[in-house]
Amino acid sequence: MEDKSYWDNAYIHLKTPWISSGLSQISKKHIKTYAQGSSVLEVGCGYGHDLVDLYSNSLNPTGIDISDQSIEKAKKITAEIEADLVCDDFIQWENNKLFDIVYDKGVYHNLQSPAERDAFCHKVSSCLNENGLWHSIIISSDRSQKYESHAGIFLQDFVSIVEAYFQILDIQKGLYGLRNSANDVDSWYCSVRRR
Ligand SMILES: C[S@@+](CC[C@H](N)C(=O)[O-])C[C@H]1O[C@@H](n2cnc3c(N)ncnc32)[C@H](O)[C@@H]1O
Repeated sequence: MEDKSYWDNAYIHLKTPWISSGLSQISKKHIKTYAQGSSVLEVGCGYGHDLVDLYSNSLNPTGIDISDQSIEKAKKITAEIEADLVCDDFIQWENNKLFDIVYDKGVYHNLQSPAERDAFCHKVSSCLNENGLWHSIIISSDRSQKYESHAGIFLQDFVSIVEAYFQILDIQKGLYGLRNSANDVDSWYCSVRRR
C-alpha cells in the first residue's frame, strides 16, 4: 500500500483520478440484499461522496482515511449529514466499535502483497459484528486500457485470501463508477460475510 505522503500529495495537488461517482446500483443492491444492520464503516473514504450516498440510503456512516487532506475535504462534503470521520491508518487503527458493514471502494487493489492483503482482511473482519458484511469494489486486472496507470487485481488475489475469514456471498463484474465516466473501468463488486 502507498504511504500517507503519497495520498496527501494526491489530494493537495488534486491528482485524484479515482473520484467515486457515488454508491453504484450494484452496491445498493448488494447492501440491501445482504446487510444485517445499518452501521457502516467506509475504509479509504476519500472526498466522502459515498458517505453521503450511504447516509441517503438509511445507513449510519463512519469514514476512515489515512490522509488528513482527504478528511478535511470529506468534512466539507459531509457537512449536511451525520457521519463520523476518522483520520488514521486503517490497519493500525484501534477501533472500539463494531460495524454491521465495512465498505471500501478503490482500496483493496492497492494492497501490494499477499501479506498486506491478509492483514487488511484480518482487520476488516475484526471491525465487523457477527454476520457482518464486507462490500468491496476492486478494479479488475482484466480492465480496458483507459486507466492503465492504476492498480488492479485478478479475482484470485481477493478470493484466495478472503476465504479464510469470510464466506463469499456474491461477486459481480461492473463498471467502477468514476466521476469521470469516460475513464471508467471494469471492477469486481464483492460481498462477503464474516465467518
Ligand atoms: C483510490 S482512493 C479511493 C477513494 C474513495 N473511496 C473513492 O472511491 O473516491 C483510496 C483511498 O484510500 C485511502 N487509504 C489508503 N491507504 C489507507 C489506509 N491504510 N488506511 C486508511 N485509508 C487509506 C487513501 O488516502 C485514498 O483516499
